[in-house]
Amino acid sequence: MTDITTARPFLDQHGRFAQLHGAGVLRIGDRFYAWGEDKSAGGTFAGIACYSSADLAAWRHEGTALAVGDGDLAPGRVVERPKVLRHPRTGQYVMYLHIDSADYADARVGFATSDDPAGPYTYRGSVRPLGHLSRDIGVYAEDGAGYLLSEDRDHGLHIYRLTEDLLGVEELVATTLGESGDHGYESPALVRVEGTYYLFGSDLTGWAANDNRYATAPSLAGPWSPWRRFAPAGSATYDSQISTIVPVEGSERTAYVYVGDRWLPEELERSLPVWLPIRIGGGQARLEWAGRWRVDVATGEVEVEPGEAEAVPGEAEAAEA
Ligand code: DGJ
Repeated sequence: MTDITTARPFLDQHGRFAQLHGAGVLRIGDRFYAWGEDKSAGGTFAGIACYSSADLAAWRHEGTALAVGDGDLAPGRVVERPKVLRHPRTGQYVMYLHIDSADYADARVGFATSDDPAGPYTYRGSVRPLGHLSRDIGVYAEDGAGYLLSEDRDHGLHIYRLTEDLLGVEELVATTLGESGDHGYESPALVRVEGTYYLFGSDLTGWAANDNRYATAPSLAGPWSPWRRFAPAGSATYDSQISTIVPVEGSERTAYVYVGDRWLPEELERSLPVWLPIRIGGGQARLEWAGRWRVDVATGEVEVEPGEAEAVPGEAEAAEA
């Protein structure tokens, strides 16, 4: 079991800074696969990198899952937030991507498929879901169905059900607006814990971090609660933006891992991973700082290195929010 040192780079087997930016993570057999934006070209597309790990801490570079090409994948374009679902019947892996022009005007969701989680993935094109703009995305799967979470500016954050083949968008399930009521949240993630859905997102502040929020609902269609903080007020989610939440189902319990990015806009390639255990249950989500920690993926137990869990300033405020 390897320790995670929060806000320090993950180094791959070659000692290189893992390009796990805007990552998606899926447990496959006894390994976790993660796909991230390779930010070696800065804000524009340089490929989607794939890594795998037995413990969410020591990552092996598996190669380029989706390479630079033409059309949507041409150099100079924006391709962000790779998220992968496995088709429950065919076993095929489907990768979802935020596909955009450099000025973020295209606002589409892209699809790519592969029989191997590491790829190479074949690009299958992009759409505007049911005609709506689609910027940051997340995915969710339940009972054989797949869902797309997609940010549509003033119109809100949408949850769509995907088509049976997972390669298209079938119908709108719910739309939420953030606290201000005039726009939705971005970088969405969704988990279900004990029958309650927890939808996470970030306010629209570019590469700058903000106090991310979550909402809860008894069903995907809602009704969705108001959004509230899950990290201490003013911590800007420990200076990070959520990318996904990884459930780690073990023999003793299910742990949840918050996967976030501390973006460094001048040096995006070196943006830091802020991955932390997050407590979710009883209608509440709580993120606390842990400087060094580990998760036993067999049991689901999380251990924080003694002395590495700070007293969390502002927690009372966060609890009230
Ligand atoms: C915020 C998004 O969450 C990121 O993925 C990226 O698109 C930046 N905006 C660009 O400013």
